[in-house]
Amino acid sequence: MGKRILITGANGQLGRALNQVLQEKKDFDCTVINAGRGEATSYCPLILDITNSVAVMNVVQDLKPDIIINCAAHTGVDLCETEQEKAHQINAIGPKNLAKAANSIDCKLVHVSTDYVFSGEGTMPYTEDSQTGPRSVYGKTKLEGEVLVKENCMKYFIVRTAWLYGEGKNFVKTMLTLAETKTEISVVSDQKGTPTSALELARAMVFLMETESYGIYHATCEGVASWYEFAREIFRQVGKSVVTKPIQTEDYPTPAVRPKNSVLENSKLKALGYHMKPWKDALQEYVSNLGK
Ligand SMILES: NC(=O)c1ccc[n+]([C@@H]2O[C@H](COP(=O)([O-])OP(=O)(O)OC[C@H]3O[C@@H](n4cnc5c(N)ncnc54)[C@H](OP(=O)(O)O)[C@@H]3O)[C@@H](O)[C@H]2O)c1
Repeated sequence: MGKRILITGANGQLGRALNQVLQEKKDFDCTVINAGRGEATSYCPLILDITNSVAVMNVVQDLKPDIIINCAAHTGVDLCETEQEKAHQINAIGPKNLAKAANSIDCKLVHVSTDYVFSGEGTMPYTEDSQTGPRSVYGKTKLEGEVLVKENCMKYFIVRTAWLYGEGKNFVKTMLTLAETKTEISVVSDQKGTPTSALELARAMVFLMETESYGIYHATCEGVASWYEFAREIFRQVGKSVVTKPIQTEDYPTPAVRPKNSVLENSKLKALGYHMKPWKDALQEYVSNLGK
C-alpha cells in the first residue's frame, strides 16, 4: 500500500519542489495531499492554517497520513521583526500543532528550519550539534518551532536549510529581474552561506523520510559563496553581462540582522551516505529549467 503524505504550506517554493520530486520518483508509491492557505485549487485542494490547532488535529485524524511535511512558515525575515506575534504563531505554534497531531496517530513529521537559528558569528561551518543563538525574530521563532516539535513528537525530522530558491520569490529571480533594467548591481559580499535549490532540498527530505533515523539534519548544497559570488554565478550561467559590485552589510541595512556565516555542514546526512549537489550544479539545473 502506498504512503499518504500531507504537505502543509504546499503553495510555497519547497512545497512545489516536493510535489515534483515525489511525482518523478517512480520507485515510491505515494498519495500526496496538498494543504495551504487561501483559495482551494486543483493542485492544493485542502485549506489548512497550521496555527489553528483544532483544524490541524481534525485534518490529521481524519486523513491519517503516514508522513506530514511542514513547508509552511512566515519566511519574510524583515517583516517578522514587526510581525512578532504572527511569526511566533506560524513558525512556532504551527509546528507544535502539527507535532501534537502527528504524535496522536504515530506518524512521521518532517519539519523545515533554517540557518538563522545560529548567530553567524563563528567562522566554521555549523553542524547539527553546534550551539544555536538566533539574532532575528525569524530565527528565534524558527528555533522555538524546533524545540516544540522535539517536545511534542516522537518521529520527527527537523531539516535546517539555507538560501533557498525554487518556484517563487527568491534571490535568483530578484537578480534576474534587476538585470532587466540595471547595468550595475551592488551585492553584499561579507555574508557567506550556501545557495540551495528547493529541488535538491526536496530530494534530501524524501530520502530522509523513508528512514527511521529521526532527529535534526542540515541540508544545504555543497560549497560556500557570498551573495555577491552567488549573483555573479547567476549572471554567468544565464549569459547576462551585468557589472556586479561587492558591498558590505552596513552599506545595505535591513531591519533583521543576517548571520555573517551561514554555512551549514550536512554531517548527519553524509553519515547516512547521502550527498547533496554542489551549489553551482544545482543552480545550473534550476536555470536550465527557467521558463519551461
Ligand atoms: N526561503 C529561504 O531562503 C529559506 C531559507 C532557510 C529555511 N527556509 C525554510 O524553508 C521552508 C520553506 O520555505 P519556502 O521558501 O518554501 O517558503 P515560502 O515559499 O515562503 O512558502 C511558505 C508557505 O507557507 C504558507 N503559510 C504561511 N503561513 C501559513 C499558515 N499559517 N498555514 C498554512 N500555510 C501557511 C505560505 O502561504 P501563502 O502563500 O498564503 O503566504 C506559503 O505558501 C520554511 O520552513 C522556511 O523557514 C527557507
